[in-house]
Amino acid sequence: MLDKVKEHIDKVVAFQADSQEQIEAFRIEYLGSKGLLKQLFAQFKEVPNDQKKAFGQAINELKQKATEKVEDLKSRLESQQEEAGIHGDLTRTGTPMNIGGRHPISVVKNQIIDVFSRIGFNVSEGPEIEDDWHNFTALNLPEHHPARDMQDTFFIQTNPDVLLRTHTSSVQVRYMEDHQPPIRTISPGRVFRNEAISARAHCIFHQVEGLYIDKEVSFADMKQTLLYFTQEMFGKSKIRLRPSYFPFTEPSAEIDIFWGLETETDYRITKGTGWLEIGGCGMVDPAVLTNCGIDPEEYSGFAFGMGVERIAMLLYQIGDIRMFFENDVRFLKQFSSAI
Ligand code: DAH
Repeated sequence: MLDKVKEHIDKVVAFQADSQEQIEAFRIEYLGSKGLLKQLFAQFKEVPNDQKKAFGQAINELKQKATEKVEDLKSRLESQQEEAGIHGDLTRTGTPMNIGGRHPISVVKNQIIDVFSRIGFNVSEGPEIEDDWHNFTALNLPEHHPARDMQDTFFIQTNPDVLLRTHTSSVQVRYMEDHQPPIRTISPGRVFRNEAISARAHCIFHQVEGLYIDKEVSFADMKQTLLYFTQEMFGKSKIRLRPSYFPFTEPSAEIDIFWGLETETDYRITKGTGWLEIGGCGMVDPAVLTNCGIDPEEYSGFAFGMGVERIAMLLYQIGDIRMFFENDVRFLKQFSSAI
């Protein structure tokens, strides 16, 4: 009989279970009200006296081992279930995380900043909601000046002095008001114009303004800076400055780069000429310097303004400006590897 109990002890120690039901069946078998231990304790009085001690110790050990086993298996099963509940199956292979990507406008803007920062330009910013002085008047565009027609403006409510800036040239003015030359700064930002939306134009877009003011700055310095930019940005070394008019620069020019026709997928981009305008530039008008507290007798400089969407459309051969604003993931996903 003693041997039987010892066999049970071994069985209990070796027992394993991986479900609640198996543990419960085990508990009932050994510790239940009609279980084995109940029967063994009942048999105790029939055991001869000289064996009572050993038998008693054995069934007590069996009871202790069975109780411990039930507790142990239960807590192990519970922690397994908890882990599975909180973390899922930890042995399963992971699904790659979608980390997203930058918007193409940010990609191109950062590239432009990189190129200019290598030749000593810092980055400055100004408000999108501007006043008349910084957006127009200080830039030689007084009220009723016909050149204001070039930039149809969104005014805020009925106050004609508060408007959404129509160009980042407003940041030039703010920067010159706060800093004396030498100045080398670029100002990227969002601008707004009251324009009909089409494949070529949008009422919201982005510009990067550049400003260089120092002693004896010449038109040749400007041309060389723009050539350096187009070489670094597009790998193209042919630019053209076409005479133009801006009230805040004199002389003024439009900047064209020669893109060529080999990679043109949308004929509208260069209209079959190979040349594409990417912005305007010029020598800062002395009146603008004076308006901003800089002495035009001592200093001169150049400025330029470029459209970021324009540049992105050229670089990535995108035929419709509206794509930048629609946030269609099928479009945006194509830039997820760009930085
Ligand atoms: N502000 C002009 C525009 O939005 C672009 C521009 C032209 C900026 C000539 C300049 C410049 O700084 O010198 O059309």
